Amino acid sequence: MSEHHRVAIVGATGAVGNTLMSILEERAFPFASLKLLASHRSAGEILTFKDQPIMVEELTHNSFDGVNLVFSSAGSSISKEFIPTAIGKGCLVIDNTSAFRMDADTPLVVPEVNMDAAIRHNGLIANPNCSTIQMVVALKPIYDRVGIKRIVVSTYQSVSGKSGSAVLELVDQTTAALEGRPIEPDKFPHQMAFNVAFDWPFTDGGDSEEEMKMVNETRKILEDDTIAVSATTVRVPVFFAHSESINVETEDKLSADDARQLLSESPGIVVMDDPASRKYPLAVDVAGRDEVFVGRIREDRSIENGLNLWVVADNLRKGAALNAIQIAEMLDGISV
Ligand SMILES: NC(=O)c1ccc[n+]([C@@H]2O[C@H](COP(=O)([O-])OP(=O)(O)OC[C@H]3O[C@@H](n4cnc5c(N)ncnc54)[C@H](OP(=O)(O)O)[C@@H]3O)[C@@H](O)[C@H]2O)c1
Repeated sequence: MSEHHRVAIVGATGAVGNTLMSILEERAFPFASLKLLASHRSAGEILTFKDQPIMVEELTHNSFDGVNLVFSSAGSSISKEFIPTAIGKGCLVIDNTSAFRMDADTPLVVPEVNMDAAIRHNGLIANPNCSTIQMVVALKPIYDRVGIKRIVVSTYQSVSGKSGSAVLELVDQTTAALEGRPIEPDKFPHQMAFNVAFDWPFTDGGDSEEEMKMVNETRKILEDDTIAVSATTVRVPVFFAHSESINVETEDKLSADDARQLLSESPGIVVMDDPASRKYPLAVDVAGRDEVFVGRIREDRSIENGLNLWVVADNLRKGAALNAIQIAEMLDGISV
């Protein structure tokens, strides 16, 4: 890998930005310089990287001078405004927001699934939605082995998938509820403490925007518009890691035993599947881990070729920051 990267993190003070910094440090990602960018609200704040203080700067169109690799995670509107400038200044941008994911000439990449798409980038690579990433990591080996006709997925998404401040609000709401004080939701549309809720804007068809991201992004990543995808996305009062119940109808038969074997040999996946010993992935155990965990692998006996899976991953790591860093690492490996 190369030391030539001059990195900027846009949204460095946020949940994804913080995780990007941690993972760059953990993996000893090689770079010559690191610029931390956020809004005027946190300009001047000091963050620590490898025990060194770095001052957060306000994002402006001049921020990309002297930078050649940008990890962007400050929301879709910020990406739309600033990414063209970064690309114009010769940067490679890996964007965690939804701003450009469905653009035809922007690769939407999960390294275990479609790294070949990343090579065709024009200065921008999009990271998929967190709930899509963990699902396609788990399903790609099955897709390759027996084909997939239809996916029915229900998610149980943690509040850190919304933002760092949503985590703090769940703490506040939970404390208020336990102390018998009234709960006044701020970031969430509903009470989130001790509740299971719908947390995304709805489209005209009645699906939420998050549900449509799972449908459209899955087809784009697998390059297969024939796959039927039905998603129901749900927010649960969990701090970190998204869980998903996935029912998949395959073209050809794959037994539960064969699926277990196949997935345990596939990149980025840990199979944890021994229900008799109460071993299956749980959000509290998967938080902080890099892999996508799969358990409760069962044949769905209600159809001819069906499987049920329980898939859990850390939304801030594999669902966002880690996936972005893996893309950069693998591009380095490829270009050597
Ligand atoms: N959280 C996840 O699991 C996850 C997963 C996949 C993708 N994403 C996407 O990643 C993005 C960030 O998510 P997050 O959870 O990290 O949100 P967050 O915790 O709310 O952080 C937002 C970051 O954006 C910065 N920001 C906001 N307005 C800005 C502006 N006008 N100029 C420059 N910086 C600005 C904030 O800086 P200040 O501190 O100055 O406000 C903060 O650093 C979102 O688009 C989200 O959809 C998140």
